[in-house]
Amino acid sequence: PRDIIIDTDPGQDDAVAILLALASPELNVLGITAVAGNVPLPLTEKNARIVCELAGRPDMKVFAGCDAPIARKLVTAEHVHGKTGLDGPQLDDPTMPLQDQHAVDWIIDTCRAAAPASITLCPLGPLTNIATALTRAPDIKDAIAEIVLMGGAYFAVGNITPAAEFNIYVDPEAAQVVFTAGLPLTVMPLDMTHKALTTKPRIEKFRQMGTRVGDMTAAWTDFFERFDMAKYGSEGAPLHDPTVIAYLLQPDLFTGRHINVEIETTSDLTLGMTVADWWGITDRPKNCTFIGDLDADGFYALLADRLATL
Ligand code: BDR
Ligand code: CA
Repeated sequence: PRDIIIDTDPGQDDAVAILLALASPELNVLGITAVAGNVPLPLTEKNARIVCELAGRPDMKVFAGCDAPIARKLVTAEHVHGKTGLDGPQLDDPTMPLQDQHAVDWIIDTCRAAAPASITLCPLGPLTNIATALTRAPDIKDAIAEIVLMGGAYFAVGNITPAAEFNIYVDPEAAQVVFTAGLPLTVMPLDMTHKALTTKPRIEKFRQMGTRVGDMTAAWTDFFERFDMAKYGSEGAPLHDPTVIAYLLQPDLFTGRHINVEIETTSDLTLGMTVADWWGITDRPKNCTFIGDLDADGFYALLADRLATL
């Protein structure tokens, strides 16, 4: 199996992504690192543990990382995810422990102990932990096979400001570090996740599993839908973060282009914008594969198949 690290700010869609990873034998989750994002760090690390327990994996290592962006005040998204970050179903507090080590230190130690190009990083939130590790210990790049992240938007533009997607907007300086790290990088932007919609029949399929994981997933995706129906006028809401894990499992579900993407870090108006040279207008160096489309039915079929095993 492929060794991965999930860096996350759960978040209902992060939660489904974690479940998908833990349900997939092709992936070996080395650990889960929490970062401040959708809600503050004490909630994201707690939510990560709730999800591991739900998946029957109280043995999973969960670490708390950075509680604020590199150079800015934290912006959160309770208006999307609710006060706890995992609003929707009723959930008990986790009993599994949080690891003592800081997430950034653990990422550095883990990469330094790993074989060259053996670890895939899966960031599902603001890029603070990942950028801090890369800045503090650039040698860890040797161990990183690739980074597959959810963030950014170009044609679909922003969901936290008119120009910016949430994960990149919250810590644009961190995003810049990651996008210029020279590592193989695949980006799941809103342009694509807004085609991965939680329609009623798809939510129903989760519920019909008749398991606790199915019930929770249905309740979480239902919570999302209520919010987004009014905002975007689409049937269902975009299920962003699980596309990162699905890409590792079935890359043929996705199509994109290898292009240059730059991060706006100065403009007040367009802070955190991912300026994507989709048409190859400039000769700026190509630094990522920007995903533009997916087979949404295939994605939901994969998700339902895997979650049913938990
Ligand atoms: C991203 O922001 C968060 O609210 C979601 O969990 C996802 O990672 C979408 O913009
Ligand atoms: Ca997230």
